[in-house]
Amino acid sequence: MFLMHIKENKVAVVTGSSSGIGYETALLLARNGFFTFATMRNIEKSENIMETTKKEGLQLQVIQLDVNDDATVKNAIDKIVEEGKRIDVLVNNAGYGIFGALEDLSIEEIKAQFETNFFGIIRVTQTVLPIMRNQKGGGTIVNIGSVGGQAGVPMLSAYNSTKFALEGLSESMSYELEPFGIRMILIEPGFIKTNIMNSSVLAKKALDQKSPYYSMTQKIKNYFESMVNNPEASPPEAVAKVILEAINSDHMQLRFTVGNDASAIINAKRKMSDLDFTNLIKQQLKLKS
Ligand SMILES: NC(=O)c1ccc[n+]([C@@H]2O[C@H](COP(=O)([O-])OP(=O)(O)OC[C@H]3O[C@@H](n4cnc5c(N)ncnc54)[C@H](OP(=O)(O)O)[C@@H]3O)[C@@H](O)[C@H]2O)c1
Repeated sequence: MFLMHIKENKVAVVTGSSSGIGYETALLLARNGFFTFATMRNIEKSENIMETTKKEGLQLQVIQLDVNDDATVKNAIDKIVEEGKRIDVLVNNAGYGIFGALEDLSIEEIKAQFETNFFGIIRVTQTVLPIMRNQKGGGTIVNIGSVGGQAGVPMLSAYNSTKFALEGLSESMSYELEPFGIRMILIEPGFIKTNIMNSSVLAKKALDQKSPYYSMTQKIKNYFESMVNNPEASPPEAVAKVILEAINSDHMQLRFTVGNDASAIINAKRKMSDLDFTNLIKQQLKLKS
């Protein structure tokens, strides 16, 4: 009975499903007929998603997957293919942010940021690609980028770099994969009301009040905190909705923004001179009166 259902359904895999965007996306895909594998690095955090799954009678299964760990990625994908027989949609969502001026960031901290936000995506995608390429109907890969992949801000240089890198990666891959019927989607959210500020970290040296960047780091971190918790920030459900619409759309569009803030920044960058755009960001961050 269980396997018969899977055969009829499309199969989706979401990374970082324990909270925020990943949590809402896994549930929305399941509510819309996908047999969904909600992966998370710590399955002790699966209580809420499993409760909703049971209550709503969804086809959703939790599987352990840490995007930093080759073995858990391989084991999870092997298990998913054994059960689901195919993977139609992969949502690369897992990520976090590190705050700190470049001078305050250690190479290890920057590498750790890239390990999750960039190499983690590569690790999971390289494991899934042969499956999508060899199955009838191809598939869709959704990378969760950020408006921060289009515009850099101070104290988030490491995070911004991972999201800028993801722009190039997703764009290049879209050409490579189209002939195999595999579609790339890059989601660029603005401020989204999630756990991200709690899961984000501060560079060790940035904690030192003697750092020349101390007050600027605190200021920017407080600004981001207030923006993510602002009543006008989009809820994670809004990102999930755009992901579902993008997956179902017939257009081969690569980028989808979420939130008025994201659209405004991306449009401004397109239309303004570099100097005007930089001044706009300084004003936004109150680095300039
Ligand atoms: N919130 C925003 O304003 C915003 C804006 C633009 C882009 N984004 C992007 O959206 C994505 C999701 O973030 P969110 O806002 O939903 O934040 P969140 O609520 O903190 O969720 C982040 C998820 O990533 C998981 N994760 C972190 N490292 C992992 C690893 N090594 N392996 C597997 N899972 C891992 C976390 O798991 P644990 O629970 O175990 O920590 C959690 O499930 C991120 O890529 C983020 O950069 C967020």
